[in-house]
Amino acid sequence: MRSLRKTVLLAIVVSVLLVVALLHSWPTRAYTTVDVWQRPGPAVERHLEERFPEPDHRSANIPYRVKESVAGLLARNGCVCEGETGGMNLPFAQLLFPRVSAHPMHTAFEASELDEMKKRRAKEYQGFQMRTQTPADMLIVAEANNPLQYPTQGMEVRPLKTILIPGLAVQDHPRELYTVNFTSTLGTLNVAAEVEGVKVKGDGEMRMTLTSSLLSNLNRQLQFVTYTNTLFHPSTADTVQFETEGHQAMFTIKVRHGVTPKLYNTGPKGEYNISALVTIATKTFLRYDKLQALIDSVRKYYSTVTIVIADDSENPKTVSGPYIEHYIMPFGKGWFAGRNLAVSQVTTKYVLWVDDDFIFTANTKLEKLVDVLERTTLDLVGGAVREATGYTATYRQTISIEPGEEEGDCLHMRRGFHHIIQGFPNCVVTDGVINFFLARTDKVQQVGFDPRLARVAHLEFFIDGLGSLHVGSCDDVIVNHATKIKLPWVSQSESDKTYAKFRYPPASSDATHTKNGLLYFKNRFQCLTHN
Ligand SMILES: *[C@@H]1O[C@H](CO)[C@@H](O)[C@H](O)[C@H]1NC(C)=O
Ligand SMILES: *[C@@H]1O[C@H](CO)[C@@H](O)[C@H](O)[C@H]1NC(C)=O
Repeated sequence: MRSLRKTVLLAIVVSVLLVVALLHSWPTRAYTTVDVWQRPGPAVERHLEERFPEPDHRSANIPYRVKESVAGLLARNGCVCEGETGGMNLPFAQLLFPRVSAHPMHTAFEASELDEMKKRRAKEYQGFQMRTQTPADMLIVAEANNPLQYPTQGMEVRPLKTILIPGLAVQDHPRELYTVNFTSTLGTLNVAAEVEGVKVKGDGEMRMTLTSSLLSNLNRQLQFVTYTNTLFHPSTADTVQFETEGHQAMFTIKVRHGVTPKLYNTGPKGEYNISALVTIATKTFLRYDKLQALIDSVRKYYSTVTIVIADDSENPKTVSGPYIEHYIMPFGKGWFAGRNLAVSQVTTKYVLWVDDDFIFTANTKLEKLVDVLERTTLDLVGGAVREATGYTATYRQTISIEPGEEEGDCLHMRRGFHHIIQGFPNCVVTDGVINFFLARTDKVQQVGFDPRLARVAHLEFFIDGLGSLHVGSCDDVIVNHATKIKLPWVSQSESDKTYAKFRYPPASSDATHTKNGLLYFKNRFQCLTHN
């Protein structure tokens, strides 16, 4: 008898525990699988199409005159690979009267493989678009005389968190019963408070209805509407539908994590402490005499700044000394691989890129470049390089991308800049600069240097960074270039000759092919024009 009672008791305890466990693990929203493809659901798309206002047939007959000067600014459907024609065919013509030349990128591939390349590129591009677009990028049109009031932009919720939806209201003609519906797809709707005289249906679900015979009570209730993200899928957006009799509106709520900052402790306030703020990074290959001259010149002005050296020479020599980090890489890994390695080791807020044959002088005032980055929103600022002849270059380039169709986009590079920076009369905003620049370390690491670009490369970094790097250039911070101009009566050293063979291959070489191939496939360009 006693053992039977014990068994029954045990059975009851076990079932209660089971129910509790089940209730606890029961998901509020049952998402068994999550479609993490970035694309608007078909329902949303269909709905958007339906909502587009019917073209008014009466307006089709109203005459108009096209204003060429403005209409011409609208993007054509596809860019065309064209340079400037005509001009003189004189020696040095390109130097004196720079003309725009155009280079098709598909020439990097044999005719036989081009079709296959094009297909593969199209497939990768489609994937890229799906990953980078969210419903927050969709066009939403607000209809005329809509009685619904709602937020049009700026709403954001962290994954799986709740927000109040601000600004909701209805201004409608008198009627017996007012109804509003909400529909969401990545989360649920609810009310943070209940207002008298308003019936709430579907609270805590993806579809919620509020009804009331009193408009003012309904509007009071609308001030308490909340949205909770329930599907964990950050960096996307939920399109919420808000409707009342005869009228619909849509707005998006971005679902995303806050941006985690990466802050650097720059020490006590006062003068800029360059050693605490800047690391000098360079890449060397065979030219140890040049590198030593660079180090010596840096030490004259900045005795404790860290210098990071990436080295892919065949028989690396030891480069040592205080505040020097020398990283040896496999032989001939290349130019961008070396830049990547050097930059990856930087722990200061800023990194200064220099070539191994530069020489610091009294004009190489890093404080000025730091000041520009500290006081503006720029991420990277270039200086100027003075040749032995006295000629000083900043190599400023503007970069723009014109959309194209299946053939790819067109990349346009032009010498020049966009505008002067207020408060810094020697500095301008541009898109690409010379091999001598100071940059926010985390931004440069984000963009990265494509290690496939082994030999001839520089502006490719700025092309990859377009849209995320904000670039400037100042011509009053100058570094000297150890002579590069070949004088026939001065014999080159052995290492200089080997260096030249690797660094300046002929235009028809594999290196140029690799470069054009990357522009064609990776960046999806059909054409490069430049002057
Ligand atoms: C609100 O949704 C209900 C069903 O969910 C529907 O019957 C009603 O017509 C909708 N009302 C409005 C104003 O769209
Ligand atoms: C500058 O920074 C370096 C490295 O952080 C530090 O050792 C040095 O004491 C600082 N100098 C001054 C003047 O604060």
